Amino acid sequence: MTAMRPMPRPGVLEIEAYVPGKSTAPGVAKIYKLSSNETPLGPSPRAIAAYKACADHLEDYPDGSAADLRAAIGRAFGLDPERIVCGAGSDDLLHLLAHAYLVDGNEAIHTTHGFLIYPIVTLGAGAKPVIAPEKNFTADVDAILAAVTKKTRIVFLANPNNPTGTCLSFDEVRRLHRGLPGNVLLVLDAAYAEYVQRNDYEAGIELVATSENVVMCRTFSKIHGLAALRLGWMFGPAHIVDAINRIRGPFNLTSSAIAAGIAAIEDIEHQEYARAHNTRWREWLTGEIGKLGLKVTPSVANFVLIHFPEARGHTAKDADAFLTARGLILRQTTAYKLPNALRLTVGTEEANRLVLGALKDFLAQPV
Ligand SMILES: Cc1ncc(COP(=O)(O)O)c(C=O)c1O
Repeated sequence: MTAMRPMPRPGVLEIEAYVPGKSTAPGVAKIYKLSSNETPLGPSPRAIAAYKACADHLEDYPDGSAADLRAAIGRAFGLDPERIVCGAGSDDLLHLLAHAYLVDGNEAIHTTHGFLIYPIVTLGAGAKPVIAPEKNFTADVDAILAAVTKKTRIVFLANPNNPTGTCLSFDEVRRLHRGLPGNVLLVLDAAYAEYVQRNDYEAGIELVATSENVVMCRTFSKIHGLAALRLGWMFGPAHIVDAINRIRGPFNLTSSAIAAGIAAIEDIEHQEYARAHNTRWREWLTGEIGKLGLKVTPSVANFVLIHFPEARGHTAKDADAFLTARGLILRQTTAYKLPNALRLTVGTEEANRLVLGALKDFLAQPV
């Protein structure tokens, strides 16, 4: 007789669990973690102070509606706080969207090198992930539209995308939206929006404000430096906000995340400092690594994708081992279907210069 035991819904066991960027290098005294797109500058000092102040009230539940945080986000972006939902990281919101809008047999589209969480949340909701090919490591609107079927319910678009660092112009996003049936939800994941300095880019606020099937997800984990606290937010049409509020955990944010988030979003100076540092060093890394003869995909985010040759001894895997031995930890991108690349987060000046020096030595090695 077959032993009876609980079984998860179809799809769950097909999920390849998310493997975060490495954070250790055995035997190395000093580690430079450049594998998770964290800011090298840390959070605003005001956010740290707000976090610490929460230590005196740990017995109290947080405000389940995060009203003060939503009001602060609303002030920062000129948005109606009623149309904002906060989550324990934007990952939480991506899961909630999948659970609210996908049922068994539905399809959700993401692009070839799209963020890894999309197939995970899709399978977790019993639906099928459909991959739309990219062009030049960039989402291709025509390919996404060609992948739409009667079963499609969500299109996930990371804009800018992780790990490629490329983005679509607002005109292209609008064209994508125009081509989608009204019952398909377009999820604009703008985790890296704050780093983009292109006039033709828009994170999605206008499209959300003027349509019924678009949401924009944002995070406090990147430019705000609050990844440890798990804090994200979503701006959407009232009916989608209502659906997500019905299924989210009633206390899905901690009080300390709420307090630090408010302080962070109000510290414009810190955000500008972080953006300026990022732009300067991203361009420097792109140029200098390019001069070594390695291809670097032009990025608008806080990381760059470095492509390695296939020649024995000089592959991405070899480079990863060489850099790790020096305490420089980059992100392997094989799970993103980029086996011959590594993703490098823009670090401190010291870390950036060390990476360049190490890559020079790596390529100079006889093989
Ligand atoms: C494209 C993209 N979206 C969402 C996230 C999730 O961010 P968090 O859950 O920390 O808010 C990340 C994190 O790396 C990301 O790269």
